[in-house]
Amino acid sequence: MRIAVTGGAGFIGSHVVDALLALGHTVAVVDDLSSGQRENLPGQVLLYEQDICHPGLGEFFRAQGTQVVIHHAAQISVAQSVKNPLHDAQVNVLGSLNVAQACAQAGVGKLIFASTGGALYGEAAERGSTESDPTRPISPYGASKRAFEGYLPFYAAQHHLRYTVLRYANVYGPRQDPHGEAGVVAIFAQRLLHSQPCTLYARERPGDGGCVRDYVYVSDVARANVAVLEKGDGETYNIGSSQPVTTARVYALVAAAAGSKAQPIQAGPRPGDLQRSRLDCSKAARELGWQPQVGLEQGIAQTVEYFRQRG
Ligand SMILES: NC(=O)c1ccc[n+]([C@@H]2O[C@H](COP(=O)([O-])OP(=O)(O)OC[C@H]3O[C@@H](n4cnc5c(N)ncnc54)[C@H](O)[C@@H]3O)[C@@H](O)[C@H]2O)c1
Repeated sequence: MRIAVTGGAGFIGSHVVDALLALGHTVAVVDDLSSGQRENLPGQVLLYEQDICHPGLGEFFRAQGTQVVIHHAAQISVAQSVKNPLHDAQVNVLGSLNVAQACAQAGVGKLIFASTGGALYGEAAERGSTESDPTRPISPYGASKRAFEGYLPFYAAQHHLRYTVLRYANVYGPRQDPHGEAGVVAIFAQRLLHSQPCTLYARERPGDGGCVRDYVYVSDVARANVAVLEKGDGETYNIGSSQPVTTARVYALVAAAAGSKAQPIQAGPRPGDLQRSRLDCSKAARELGWQPQVGLEQGIAQTVEYFRQRG
């Protein structure tokens, strides 16, 4: 297939590109390199270095004969979205709408959208959030992701643009930015390998192990994108491990892989952090035959090795 990946020079998008190339698909990338990097892409991949808000997007898709668009370009920071909700909406709502319009204009057959689980569902039930649970985003980032999800049925009905929404848990792995305020595996790995102190924010009070999250390795996320190329039309799938893991457990695994005995600084809760996020991913298993293959210990070891080699 001829596939375009927006945000393909970024962390998750570049692994999606790798998975598609390995299957023999022809891949083009739309990325403004605001956080992504050309080095994340193999040389044969055509990079259209452009903002997703650009009016020429439809022409690009048409010229490439694009059959599927996988949309990962986004303003990804919850904290930035709180500081500047207008910019978040500019990229995540209007930019995404421009992608959908461009698909309609170019006769693209399918749009796959990288949405979020954690920021959409709010505090998770003990059993994990399912796709049919109510969404209660408390950040502009969660609200903008939900808003674009809401437009997709219109494009399907009006423009025959098939779509699948993937709601990711906390994705981790090689190429994640270790300097952001999210992406705790990358942050801990980079800091511990450079003998810098790490802060562990509490769930309620210092020393309680921190927030509970659902971590999924990036190659498993890439496989989920491949799984919906020809399946899951009109559907939404949670993509995570369904395992509740504390930040303290992540720290212990990263420290062990990095060969560090340093203890983290125990801090109070960080304002705005959810206490618990956990996705029920049984729908993806049932309907797509997708399940994560890389366990947390193995995934963290591979991630730490990546950051060790990168220096
Ligand atoms: N990392 C996670 O845990 C996680 C969880 C849930 C959802 N997501 C979603 O997955 C997608 C990819 O996230 P990531 O973690 O790989 O982040 P990333 O920052 O590594 O990737 C985003 C890419 O989009 C590009 N980009 C940003 N704004 C753009 C614009 N206006 N025009 C063109 N390109 C632009 C960036 O240069 C970058 O290459 C995002 O949509 C994000 O919301 C990520």
